[in-house]
Amino acid sequence: MTDTPYRPDLISPSARAPHDASATPIFQSSSFLFDNYAQIEDVFAGRSDRYIYSRGDNPTVGELENLIARLEGAKAARGFSSGMAAICGAVLPFVQSGDRIVAVKHLYSDAYRLFETVLARFGVETIYVDGSDTQAMIDALSGARLVYLESPTSWTFRLQDLRAIATQARHLGVTSVIDNSWATPIFQQPHDLGIDLVVHAASKYLSGHSDTLGGLVTGPRQMIEKIDHEATHLFGGRMSPMDAFLVLRGMKTLDMRMARHMENGLALAQFLARHPAVTAVHHPGLAATRPEGLTGFSGLFAFDLATSVDVQRFCDALRHIRIGVSWGGPESLIVPGQAACALAGSANSFARFGVSARTIRLAAGLEPYDTLASDLEDALHVAQAAAA
Ligand SMILES: Cc1ncc(COP(=O)(O)O)c(C=O)c1O
Repeated sequence: MTDTPYRPDLISPSARAPHDASATPIFQSSSFLFDNYAQIEDVFAGRSDRYIYSRGDNPTVGELENLIARLEGAKAARGFSSGMAAICGAVLPFVQSGDRIVAVKHLYSDAYRLFETVLARFGVETIYVDGSDTQAMIDALSGARLVYLESPTSWTFRLQDLRAIATQARHLGVTSVIDNSWATPIFQQPHDLGIDLVVHAASKYLSGHSDTLGGLVTGPRQMIEKIDHEATHLFGGRMSPMDAFLVLRGMKTLDMRMARHMENGLALAQFLARHPAVTAVHHPGLAATRPEGLTGFSGLFAFDLATSVDVQRFCDALRHIRIGVSWGGPESLIVPGQAACALAGSANSFARFGVSARTIRLAAGLEPYDTLASDLEDALHVAQAAAA
């Protein structure tokens, strides 16, 4: 069994709930009432922090924001309607026309599309650097406004030296942002390494049950206030109370689930690395060393099929592992790189950064390891026979 730290703070609410409810109540209310003129004026003037309207703040969402801020070791947090809304919230308030973003290559495909389409149209240029080349990252920072990281990167699962990059970024006044959805605060707390803003697609491991979309940003109070004024109030992509409730519910078991995802992911990566029909496995846990701050691994990784394997037959031959784009839920899923490369539209990160058509991304779920390993073994056998 993998040794993952038990986090009692996942279970106990930060504040006493009405009627001492053990689960956080869902405050399904768009607005909140005032007894008199003085109360509403106090709120508008910033003299009181009563709730006004749920596009700004809501008690259920606030409970989740307190929890993620505590887990990430941040002063404040904001909840969004999806991971992409959180990425927009963490990036857009900090850039303007003429600025440059430095992003890691192989970042999440829709973050890439955001940079290449919307931000490019508003005059923000993005350059992409191999994040595992720390010196290249550091060199690229001079003259940049913001650095956007994912450690590990999507599909290639390459890690970055977060402390070195964050230290140089702070020295130069460059805002640093990381998507920490893969590691979760159970395995990586980037603020400890000097990163300014941490983003989560709560749709993945935090909620953990494939039934919710949500996003979170954590950071220093001043930066979160800027995000609050511009993104949460003006873009309006706020997390709903129901989604916050589902993420809170999922997070009660985050430590246990991450231990199991890690155990399954590592064992499957090792199994695939030994398999003759697999030419490479992209899993940060197979490397001899771990970068500072990364204490464990989630269940998402990728592997490359040998030319002796028919990619389509392999995908279709899987009986237990399903084909599906998301990850972080209890079920194991694959996405074939061959299909991802066919993604329509001009800003295709798979084509730009060269994800191989023979790469398969696997999200190891919570099922018994033997079920998953034998499913892969059988499908590789069928697909090799088909290609022969
Ligand atoms: C690494 C990563 N970040 C962010 C997102 C976006 O999350 P959401 O789908 O909640 O917008 C995804 C979604 O797949 C992702 O893989």
